[in-house]
Amino acid sequence: MSKKRVLSGIQPTSDSFHLGNYLGAVKQWVDLQETHDAFYCIVDLHALTVETDPKLLRKRTLTSAAQLLALGISPEKSTLFVQSQVPQHNQLGWIMECMAGFGEASRMTQFKDKSSKAGADAARVGLFTYPMLMAGDILLYQTNLVPVGEDQRQHIELTRDIAGRFNSKYGETFAIPEGFILKQGAKIFDIQDPTAKMSKSSGSGAGLIDILDTPEVNAKKFKSAVTDAGREVKFDLVEKPGISNLLTIHAALSGKSIADLENEFAGKGYGDFKGAVAEVVVEYFRPIRAHALELLQDEAHLISILHKGSEKARSVAQITVDKAYKNLGIVL
Ligand code: TYM
Repeated sequence: MSKKRVLSGIQPTSDSFHLGNYLGAVKQWVDLQETHDAFYCIVDLHALTVETDPKLLRKRTLTSAAQLLALGISPEKSTLFVQSQVPQHNQLGWIMECMAGFGEASRMTQFKDKSSKAGADAARVGLFTYPMLMAGDILLYQTNLVPVGEDQRQHIELTRDIAGRFNSKYGETFAIPEGFILKQGAKIFDIQDPTAKMSKSSGSGAGLIDILDTPEVNAKKFKSAVTDAGREVKFDLVEKPGISNLLTIHAALSGKSIADLENEFAGKGYGDFKGAVAEVVVEYFRPIRAHALELLQDEAHLISILHKGSEKARSVAQITVDKAYKNLGIVL
């Protein structure tokens, strides 16, 4: 039996991925490439939905590639590519826009959040149509599984709805994808404000852990992470959101269970625990950071890996575009 297909994407909108990107998504990408036919894409077209600086976009696209490789994405096992190098994304994106209702698109909470931050007039049309481009990304590859964080759940539901509608109206065209969203770790919180999602765009930066930051900076951030009332290291999302977030992070990186960690830190204070979390995170990312920085020294090599991936992605994507066009009655 042929392997099931996995696809996911990440935006090149920051100088570094943060811990939420890794734990919520990329860590699963690395695991899934062992058992699935995996397509992973740096979604630079999605990054254009907000104001961008051309020099930064280029730098961040290459930095994204370097990080994905350093985190364990293997170009031999996965197809690693850049969205804009596969024009079929734009082709299917338009079809998706023509299939989605204005009402259902208007219900996307990420658009509502992001556009209210920018101010309704400053928000770009592309920010509104973003989920339809994302639906195209997924459906182009006849994807079965989409590993993402909790914040993408609604976009995947929309993708499934559009795909189902298209199939019943125009004939079987797309595989109906499923989200692959962890029970624990699909939403990593800001370590200064554990009621808010860790995100590059929110907070002061003190609660955001960038994986390419120096070990010193990250250790310091963890040592001053916000904790909760009481003194016990215990997982309790309501009473202890700060400690629960730190337990989730420790468990995901150390491989220990939350129950084992609670036992290990029984009778010890929050200070000891925060020191231990700092150490686990810093040691985990130390070699990854070094490897990513080394890969960035050779841009030509990175670009050639991406070109190869994009070439493969184009050939797979074209098959779906042809099928969708044909079923729509477009003359080929
Ligand atoms: P992006 O670039 O914002 O984030 C990349 C991945 O990181 C996850 N994530 C988190 N997970 C847990 N805790 C957090 N605090 C956290 N913050 C971010 C995101 O859920 C995501 O999986 N729309 C997507 C990119 C995209 C895409 C696609 C994804 C475009 N096309 C097709 C899958 C399939 C996005 O903006 O991710």
